[in-house]
Amino acid sequence: MTDHKRRGFVKTAAVGGTAFLGPQVVEAARARGHVLTLFNRGKTNPGLFPDIEKLHGDRDGDLASLEGRKWDAVVDTSGFVPRLVTMSASLLAPNVNQYVFISTISVFAEDLKPGTAEDGPLATTPDPSSEDVRKYYGALKALSEKAADKAMSGRAWTIRPGLIVGPGDQTDRYTYWPVRVAKGGEVLAPGDGSDPVQYIDVRDLAAWIVLGVERNLTGTYNATGPAKKLTMKAMLDAIKKGTGGEAKFTWVSTAFLESKKVAPWSDLPVWVPSRNGEEGFAQVNCSKAIAAGLSFRPAATTAADTLAWYRTLPEDRRGKLLAGISADKERELLAAWHAR
Ligand SMILES: NC(=O)c1ccc[n+]([C@@H]2O[C@H](COP(=O)([O-])OP(=O)(O)OC[C@H]3O[C@@H](n4cnc5c(N)ncnc54)[C@H](OP(=O)(O)O)[C@@H]3O)[C@@H](O)[C@H]2O)c1
Repeated sequence: MTDHKRRGFVKTAAVGGTAFLGPQVVEAARARGHVLTLFNRGKTNPGLFPDIEKLHGDRDGDLASLEGRKWDAVVDTSGFVPRLVTMSASLLAPNVNQYVFISTISVFAEDLKPGTAEDGPLATTPDPSSEDVRKYYGALKALSEKAADKAMSGRAWTIRPGLIVGPGDQTDRYTYWPVRVAKGGEVLAPGDGSDPVQYIDVRDLAAWIVLGVERNLTGTYNATGPAKKLTMKAMLDAIKKGTGGEAKFTWVSTAFLESKKVAPWSDLPVWVPSRNGEEGFAQVNCSKAIAAGLSFRPAATTAADTLAWYRTLPEDRRGKLLAGISADKERELLAAWHAR
């Protein structure tokens, strides 16, 4: 580790930096005294961070503004296909010590076993030339991890987050729950409460990324939370505690929801029933990251802060959550559940 890294004066570039995870990394890094540069196309939230150096370009073909510049670390939040990760990592390799590649736990193959660590089986694509990220997200990220490490000759740090949640998340996947619970009344809660869930607060992830930059971490790390098993019931109880809602949870069985064509994860986010080969989905082993300093704020704090952030959004944005079931659908399902 270089002296300035130990002291915290780190020159870090973020490939991206202006959507959700990027801004939190920027905030955490500059709070630690890092000197930052952002590289992006200038399309997403262009007015953000007016005081930080911005280099414009496109990682698909226009990397000129990165040429000849030196940084201690690069944090790549926007790499999805190996071709483009190879391009940026090869260009930067002679001029950076560490390449932080933000991957995903979706790199794992289906039928994951509970407790899978970093060496678990990875998703593959039947067509390695395809760059269809929607279709082959996990497999392409897995290939991108390898591309980053190859270009950096082992100086890549690969981080595999689970669902990233918290203030600033525009998908509403986790946010559905704090918003719904805070509204109060009878809340449809899926399953029997025992299904495990995993997610990570974006601010905990960002803080760890900055710590790992200062420690010059390399290798591959699963990075989702919390530290100990969290059930759907414990998550909803924590959300109730954090948001102060007067909610009453009615646990509706997985079989019943399935009969009504309510899909786990997509219709009722965060939740994936622990069965049918999906038992490992929310039980990924993150002990390596935890031993390397990844820590988690209380689940109730994430809930409270996410709700507080959501309440700052314009009214028309708040009018319709982008994930979860509608109030009408929930009422209809609860009535059918009680009448069965
Ligand atoms: N959300 C989750 O639950 C979750 C879970 C696991 C893993 N992940 C991973 O976490 C990362 C998410 O990061 P984020 O989107 O929040 O990061 P971010 O750094 O906040 O935003 C993405 C950035 O990439 C830039 N960008 C996009 N296309 C570009 C291009 N062609 N050339 C240059 N810059 C480009 C965007 O700016 P411009 O548009 O201005 O170029 C933007 O600044 C992804 O890698 C994702 O796979 C997410």
